[in-house]
Amino acid sequence: MTSYTPEGMVDAIRQSPPIDLSIPYDAAWVKGKTILITGGASGFGAGFVRHWAKNGAVVIVGDINTEKGDVLVREVKQQTGNNNVHFVHCDVTDWQSQVNLFKEAASLSPHGGIDTVVANAGIAGNDPTQQPTGLDAAEPPRPAFKILDVNLAGVMYTTHLAYYWLVKNPGSERCSMDSKPGERVRDRHLLLLGSIASLAPIAIQPQYNAAKHAVLGLFRSLRATSHYQGIRINLLCPYFIDTPIVTAPARIVLAGGAMGKVEDVVDAATRFVADSRILGRALVVGPKVTVKQLDTGEWSLVSKGTPGGTETALWEPCADDWEEVDAFDRNIIKILNSVQAARGWIGWAADLVKAVGHGLGYRR
Ligand SMILES: NC(=O)c1ccc[n+]([C@@H]2O[C@H](COP(=O)([O-])OP(=O)(O)OC[C@H]3O[C@@H](n4cnc5c(N)ncnc54)[C@H](O)[C@@H]3O)[C@@H](O)[C@H]2O)c1
Repeated sequence: MTSYTPEGMVDAIRQSPPIDLSIPYDAAWVKGKTILITGGASGFGAGFVRHWAKNGAVVIVGDINTEKGDVLVREVKQQTGNNNVHFVHCDVTDWQSQVNLFKEAASLSPHGGIDTVVANAGIAGNDPTQQPTGLDAAEPPRPAFKILDVNLAGVMYTTHLAYYWLVKNPGSERCSMDSKPGERVRDRHLLLLGSIASLAPIAIQPQYNAAKHAVLGLFRSLRATSHYQGIRINLLCPYFIDTPIVTAPARIVLAGGAMGKVEDVVDAATRFVADSRILGRALVVGPKVTVKQLDTGEWSLVSKGTPGGTETALWEPCADDWEEVDAFDRNIIKILNSVQAARGWIGWAADLVKAVGHGLGYRR
């Protein structure tokens, strides 16, 4: 009978410690890695392609936008002299299209495997969830949940295929906090693109919000057991960053505020991809600010040059860390552990008999 505490879970799931952003990583550690990026033709994806190709990675871009993808790959090859950058047309909502992308990536990879998968493709836009049409009709027409299709079903397909290909990556070893980045090139890494919408409510975008919350749930679930397959999984949660996905209404709402920059998302992603010691962590990316930590642990905005102030665009969100789970999680886990303790070994044995019976088809 195992009793899990949030603290015990950190060891059980082999989560690496909080990221110390003051410790530098070397972007050159991506050299020789084969990286597959969905939605790599624009925005963050295009930023990843440029930076990782410049640093010697093999990059396979899968995107629905062939025109943009082709232009990007041609440009990057010219600018970097790295010919191991390829575009493959892919619609992430189409299973077979993703199967073909992964197969093509493995065959284009000089070592025949994939080291990192970045589940990046995503869309935002008009959301019919709260706006039913045909109010006079006997029945409302079926809504198009395209955002869920791309941002959730597409990510689930990418994840499933990543778990197929990463374990088969020739020469790769199980992920480990003791690995030596730079020395060990082969990897098994899945990087998910969440959002600040994974952690907070975003009005008028319920579908986007639901999909990104789901990506956070996917991350939290997978990282609990991914070490069994030796796969490391990390999550990026950018705030609003200036790319084509940010719609005009969102830009109006954000007017006067601060938007983040693609280069900071690229920085956070590169740390994850390059540093194979990072397991099961998430980073929020926002606008670059100078902050100082108060005695209460909260951060406060200060002006540049303030003693004790740090300039950063990256944050580790506590809300999805096992050791810093929010008060409700902590409380409910405590209650569940108490129930388990009260039922004791007899309760455990009774449940086990029931479970075996259930498996044999004895169900009430
Ligand atoms: N920019 C932001 O403010 C922000 C914030 C948080 C999270 N994100 C997330 O980051 C990811 C990248 O977004 P971005 O800002 O670079 O946007 P972007 O619009 O610049 O890029 C998205 C890419 O996905 C591709 N794509 C769309 N549908 C696809 C499909 N069905 N199949 C394959 N490719 C498809 C597009 O063609 C495009 O190249 C998305 O998952 C997005 O939700 C963005």
